[in-house]
Amino acid sequence: MAATAAAAAAAAAGVVGSASHHSRILQFSSSSRRRQLCISCTAVSPSPIPASLAAGDRGVYNFAAGPATLPESVILKAQSELYNYRGSGMSIMEMSHRGKEFDAAIKKAESDLRRLLSISDDFAVLFLQGGATTQFAAVPLNLCKPDDPADYIITGSWSDKAYKEAQKFCKPNVVWSGKSEKYTKIPSFDAIRQNPDAKYLHICGNETIHGVEYKDYPEPKNKNSILVADMSSNFCSKPVDVSKFGLIYAGAQKNVGPSGVTIVIVRRDLIGDPQPITPVMLDYKIHADNASLYNTPPCFAVYICALVFEDLLDQGGLQAVEEKNAKKAGILYEAIERSGGFYVCPVDKSVKSLMNVPFTLQNSDLEKKFIAEAAKEGMIQLKGHRSVGGVRASIYNAMPLAGVEKLVAFMKDFQARHP
Ligand SMILES: Cc1ncc(COP(=O)(O)O)c(C=O)c1O
Repeated sequence: MAATAAAAAAAAAGVVGSASHHSRILQFSSSSRRRQLCISCTAVSPSPIPASLAAGDRGVYNFAAGPATLPESVILKAQSELYNYRGSGMSIMEMSHRGKEFDAAIKKAESDLRRLLSISDDFAVLFLQGGATTQFAAVPLNLCKPDDPADYIITGSWSDKAYKEAQKFCKPNVVWSGKSEKYTKIPSFDAIRQNPDAKYLHICGNETIHGVEYKDYPEPKNKNSILVADMSSNFCSKPVDVSKFGLIYAGAQKNVGPSGVTIVIVRRDLIGDPQPITPVMLDYKIHADNASLYNTPPCFAVYICALVFEDLLDQGGLQAVEEKNAKKAGILYEAIERSGGFYVCPVDKSVKSLMNVPFTLQNSDLEKKFIAEAAKEGMIQLKGHRSVGGVRASIYNAMPLAGVEKLVAFMKDFQARHP
């Protein structure tokens, strides 16, 4: 026991000791024969980072689409508080969600997010579970009756999934689809044939797979209707005028935290009349009335979000964050454009995402090699989504400029080596 406590203390201090190996043989009887089960636990030191991997401070630049890279400072702070949270003698994972420590953490997460996005008290801010996918159902369940129409603009796989799920709970209508153009565009807003009776107009603010991002937002035709946005992959990457929306939802695992928590920002006057079949866990009013503590929330994920929001405020807020994001995306798109067709990004120039940059190589046979060689250089998770292939560099808030610069240098070098 003492050894275990010492190891944990060392781990908390960031000092993982040399490899120790414990093997246990558990025996148990079964009706037919005696079986042996061997469980082997090995505590291993982190492998040293080879010089060739000297990329970010952790040895790699992680271009994953989500769960995605988080700010180093946040990870280190969480590490330092993991074992004994602010003198409580417990990890934040081990304490009651109704205790004073977690209460302070969730309140801080909410108030910092309100500051970041200037969210007025007309809106409830909810920390929920089930991912953005659950919101595909929760939105129509809370905002519509089964026969109500709702408008959906389909700019990629995620808005398409939202539309398909809504078919179970209301009468959604596709008012524009970019499918025939392989999801490379966002329509001009007057080309959207909105239904004047629609309860809401649903968009996906940034299509994570296709790299298509709204730079401005359409207005619902009907003044009583509202704009609803899935902002999972560009949440808190730039300032957004929340008052233009009735509801914004976002899974945290791209820009603001780990997976496990989904943030919903909803105008209070829109909630409280869900369809009778709405499960209690999908009823926004229940969560708003209980300050996101109706049931056990994803405590650790909410706590990490609180650290990320604090970090974003420390960086100067979302205006400053957007400037950094625009710079990173700018150099990457420029490298693609200047490659003379060696690299190709199919997305319409005016709606290229600042967050997810999908591209292909003119010679698609080279893509595997590109991704493998980049990984050897410490640039990982660059494979495009399995549904579209190619390469995708996700460059969320926490991706440092140096990571994108390194990728651009690698791209130029790779091209030079494959004339
Ligand atoms: C834009 C967008 N919406 C929805 C989802 C689904 O999120 P989740 O897997 O958290 O349900 C994703 C996931 O990547 C996404 O990128």
